[in-house]
Amino acid sequence: MSDPTPVEKGLAAEVQGMSESELAQHLEEVAEAVAPDREIQVDVGDTLLELDDVTLRFGGLVALDSVSFGIRRGEILGMIGPNGAGKTTCFNVMTGVYRPSSGEVRLEGRRLGRLKRYQITRRGIARTFQNIRLFEEMTALENVVVGTDARHKTSVVGALARLPRHWQEERAGVERAMALLEFVGIADRAADRAKNLPYGYQRRLEIARALATEPKLLCLDEPAAGFNPAEKDELMELIRRIRDDGYTVLLIEHDMRVVMGVTDRIVVLEFGKKIAEGTPAQVRDDPAVIAAYLGVPDDGAA
Ligand SMILES: Nc1ncnc2c1ncn2[C@@H]1O[C@H](COP(=O)(O)OP(=O)(O)OP(=O)(O)O)[C@@H](O)[C@H]1O
Ligand SMILES: [Mg+2]
Repeated sequence: MSDPTPVEKGLAAEVQGMSESELAQHLEEVAEAVAPDREIQVDVGDTLLELDDVTLRFGGLVALDSVSFGIRRGEILGMIGPNGAGKTTCFNVMTGVYRPSSGEVRLEGRRLGRLKRYQITRRGIARTFQNIRLFEEMTALENVVVGTDARHKTSVVGALARLPRHWQEERAGVERAMALLEFVGIADRAADRAKNLPYGYQRRLEIARALATEPKLLCLDEPAAGFNPAEKDELMELIRRIRDDGYTVLLIEHDMRVVMGVTDRIVVLEFGKKIAEGTPAQVRDDPAVIAAYLGVPDDGAA
């Protein structure tokens, strides 16, 4: 039997002291963060993902109300709307956390149906979370390696059971993970545990881990939250580079300067309904959007 690899040790440390239900939840999260074995798609323009008349109810609350829109391959689509408008819920429906009460979500024309979260990751949707979710006890590098290698789906169990593993396979993942850390600009802290990283690094680490799964669609839930203006500029630059690398990006963001500055189109939600869709300029000048969300036009005329 070979020794556990560093990532397996990390995974084992991560689960120490967990109850059975926590472990089950954790295994699901690891599985969700794992890469499929597939090429990145770079054809631009056709519809990658569609929400078709999606409604989601939580008891009496209609969190999404007949929402339809498409995301085109190669674009950066913004999603805005007041607090509680249903933006994160939209992500949750697209990533299998919730199933629509009615309507459907299609990726490349295929219904997501009853797929589980990790199966949707494999089909090509990755996300970050409004409240950062990382493997805290693992290093930055290990967090990304987990995303690079489908073998790690079973590694928590494997590491615990001390199953033999091959360092070489992990090494390829480590190299790719290191490149991703460089790409998002946090390679200097690769060996630090996620929980000890500064906030801005944690946000970038989540993006690197999501990219490690080679998603067709990358969904970012308020990635600029808590950033200062300089950090927001860097993030905008990063999002553009991600798109230029052949990914499609869906961006939930409250900061209007970021949204207007980086997106190609924007979808606006309010009380679970889509109230507008268009280019940043169209959306900015839409009276319904101004009333619902922006309050006062940018030029201060009102
Ligand atoms: N699991 C749930 N159970 C019950 N209600 C929920 C659940 N998740 C979300 N909601 C409700 O659905 C509505 C939409 O929430 P959601 O988190 O999608 O809003 P949001 O647009 O992301 O807001 P924010 O800008 O504050 O993040 C809210 O009224 C919220 O309270
Ligand atoms: Mg939200």
